[in-house]
Amino acid sequence: MPPPRGTPNIIEGPGDYDVTRTIHNDTYPAINPAQLDLSGKTVLITGGSRGIGRAMALSFAKGGASSIAVGARSDLSQLETDIYAAAKSEGRAQPRVLPLKLDITDEASVAASAAKIEETFGKLDILINNAGVLGEYGLIGDSDTKGWWDVFDVNIRGAYLVTKAMIPLLLKGDSSCRYVVSVTSVAAHLYNPTLSAYEISKLGLWKFSQLVNVEYASKGITSFAVHPGNVPTEIIGGKENLPEHHRPIFIETPELAGDSIAFLTSQKRAWLGGRYLNLTWDLPELLKREHEIVAQDKFRNKFDFALGTTNGLNNGISTGTA
Ligand SMILES: NC(=O)c1ccc[n+]([C@@H]2O[C@H](COP(=O)([O-])OP(=O)(O)OC[C@H]3O[C@@H](n4cnc5c(N)ncnc54)[C@H](OP(=O)(O)O)[C@@H]3O)[C@@H](O)[C@H]2O)c1
Repeated sequence: MPPPRGTPNIIEGPGDYDVTRTIHNDTYPAINPAQLDLSGKTVLITGGSRGIGRAMALSFAKGGASSIAVGARSDLSQLETDIYAAAKSEGRAQPRVLPLKLDITDEASVAASAAKIEETFGKLDILINNAGVLGEYGLIGDSDTKGWWDVFDVNIRGAYLVTKAMIPLLLKGDSSCRYVVSVTSVAAHLYNPTLSAYEISKLGLWKFSQLVNVEYASKGITSFAVHPGNVPTEIIGGKENLPEHHRPIFIETPELAGDSIAFLTSQKRAWLGGRYLNLTWDLPELLKREHEIVAQDKFRNKFDFALGTTNGLNNGISTGTA
């Protein structure tokens, strides 16, 4: 479990403890990719060189995905070997693996990756916008202008460039099950000082993800956003360098997010479109609440302006001046 409720947690988000009775900090039997049949699926994971993206690639391999493209700026040769080993460990056929030298902020690099995927796989079924950066901590007035904007370049413009380039390939993919998953963050909900670029960019990425759904749901693409849990990866300085106040909080494993995404995208779940999910929530419990979530239009980014019946216009009080 994430830290017991009440643990001082400056990044506690809405619904962390309230949406499902059970919450997780590591993978669990119900989402074990060994139970999935991802054969025939083609997936692209951006930012797969380490951390959460790497775990996602291994989860898709264990789930039997046929074609796995992974993009990052670093060397991916070890990952390629690890993907083959992960598939083998579950008795799967060896997937086709496409390591891509990809900088998501460079439109030419993104275009080259799209061309390579088209040439090698001919289509894409699942895009995971996972690559992201945190930026430097600091008050807005003290921040370096370029460094602040660079966060948006990766987290927003990068996700936009990749999604834009991959949409034609997704439209050639499995028409019954096309996904764009964007890895946002609990930070989208937070107003903690000294991390403004990251918090705004992750909120923007969630809204971007909603708009992809609005524009492409009719073409069979389901786009949703996730918080992967609080994972002690390099983005936060690694496990060894966690500051004291982060130690009880950054306790999720990358496998939790990896297995959760493979599980969620293994079949059509169009109702997830436009929503934000925290992957520490128990997914079977969450899926059972589909009708309630849809009926109440939950987990979407919107301004809830409704006042109670004793307030404002509902009480006959005019707010106009005319
Ligand atoms: N860890 C957490 O607790 C946490 C919580 C909420 C959300 N997230 C989100 O989860 C995602 C993965 O983060 P992580 O925790 O796994 O961090 P990480 O270990 O630092 O991994 C970040 C990945 O993004 C890639 N990347 C960064 N800039 C890139 C660029 N311009 N082009 C291509 N790839 C780029 C990196 O690859 P190269 O450097 O090799 O290019 C790396 O593979 C991020 O979007 C992050 O915001 C993480």
